[in-house]
Amino acid sequence: MAFPKGFLWGCASSAYQVEGGNLRSNWAAWERRKGLAPCGAAANSWDLWREDLACLKALNANAYRFSVEWSRVEPHPGEFDQAALDRYTEMARALRQAGIRPIVTLHHFSEPAWLYERRPKGWLEDGPEEDFTRFVDRVVLALRGEVDDWITFNEPMVWLLSAYGLGRFPPGLHRIISLERNFIKNGLIDRVARAHRAAYLLIRGAIPKARVAIAQNVVDLEPARPRVSDLEATQAWDRFMHRHLLDLLKSSKTLDFIGLNYYTRIFVRGSRLFPLGTMPCYRELEVLLGRPLFRLLGGRRGGRPETDMGWEIVPEGLGRVALSLWRAYGLPVFVTENGLADAAGDRREAFLREHVAALAGAAAQGAELMGYLHWSLIDNYEWGDWGPRFGLFSVDRERGFRRDPAAGSKLFAELAASNGACLS
Ligand code: BGC
Repeated sequence: MAFPKGFLWGCASSAYQVEGGNLRSNWAAWERRKGLAPCGAAANSWDLWREDLACLKALNANAYRFSVEWSRVEPHPGEFDQAALDRYTEMARALRQAGIRPIVTLHHFSEPAWLYERRPKGWLEDGPEEDFTRFVDRVVLALRGEVDDWITFNEPMVWLLSAYGLGRFPPGLHRIISLERNFIKNGLIDRVARAHRAAYLLIRGAIPKARVAIAQNVVDLEPARPRVSDLEATQAWDRFMHRHLLDLLKSSKTLDFIGLNYYTRIFVRGSRLFPLGTMPCYRELEVLLGRPLFRLLGGRRGGRPETDMGWEIVPEGLGRVALSLWRAYGLPVFVTENGLADAAGDRREAFLREHVAALAGAAAQGAELMGYLHWSLIDNYEWGDWGPRFGLFSVDRERGFRRDPAAGSKLFAELAASNGACLS
C-alpha cells in the first residue's frame, strides 16, 4: 500500500458533539425547541480530554482534528473566556508533545445562541461574518504557537442547506425552493466564502507556515439512469453542492488543501419537481418523503450494505472522489472525515480496510494525499440523536463516560503504525 512519508493517520471530532455543557450554543436551544434528545454532557470530553488523548495514543494516531466551540469561547458578544481558550491551548500542546498533530476546526455546525438572538436570519443578514472573524482572531492568537493546520468551516454546504434550506438545523429556515436564488444569487454562499477568506488571512498572517482549508462533504454521485437528463442533473448537483464554493475559494487563493469528508454514494435523477431540476436521492430524502412517494417520484437507492444511518457503503467512491478533486483543483486532498455508524460493530473493520485501500488506489493513480482521519474517535452526539455509534472507542454514558476500544480500533492502530503497509 503506497502512502507518502508523513501521511497523517488520525481521527476527527467536533466540540459540540463530544465536550458537553455547551448550553450557550444555538444547538442547545434548538434541541429544546424541537424536543430532540439533549446533548447535555455529551461524552464529557471537556473534562476527560486526557482520556481522549490516551485513546489516540492507543490508535498510534499522529493527527487529531477537533473543533473550538465558539459559544464557549465567546459566551456573550465580544466577551471572551480566557480560561476556555487556555484549555484548548493546553490540549493542543499536549497533543503535539505526544507526537499528534492538532488540526483545528473553527466552525463545526454549532454557533453561539446570541448570534441568532441579534439576527434571527443569521447568515442571511449582515453581521455574522464580522462576528466570526473576531472569534477567529482570538482563537488564532491563543493557538498560534501550537496549531499549524486549520479548517475554517466544516461541511459549509451541508450546514447551509440544513440550516437555511431544509430547516433541519438551527435557525430552521426553509429556503429550499429556488435554491439557486436563495443560496447563490442572494449571496449566502458568498458570505461564507468571505468569512473563510478573512479567517484565512488572519491565520496565514499570524502563522506563515499554516495550512488552511474547509472540510467539504463530497458524495460519490451517479446518474440514476443512463440518460442525458440524469447525467446533467448529476453534474448540476455536483456543481452546486461540491464545486461552487471550492471554486470560489480556489480563485481567491485561499485554499491550501482540500478537506474531504466522504461517507457514501447517491444516485441523482433529473426531475422538474425539485430545485435545480435535480432529485438527489439521499437516504434523508427518502425518509422525508416516505418510501412510496420517493419511489413514485423516481428515487433510486443502491443495493449495497448500509450503515446504521442507512447510508450505502461504497468504498471505491472514496478513491473516485479523492482522485477527481485532485485532478480538478491540483491541491492535496486530506480525508478529514470518513467512518460509519455501526452499533453492532460488524462492519467497521471491513469498512476501514476497504476505504483505505480505495484511497491507496487513488494515490497510486497520482493523487496527492495528506492523510486519513476517521470519524470518529469516540461515540458522540449525532445532532439530535444518541443512537448512532461512530466511535473507534465506545463511550458508556451511564458508567462515568468510560471509553472502551470498539470494532476497528485494532486495525486502525495497525494501519497507523505501518503507514498502511499492513494491508498489502
Ligand atoms: C459531520 C459530523 C457528523 C458526521 C456523521 C459529518 O457530516 O461533520 O458532525 O457527526 O458527518 O453524520
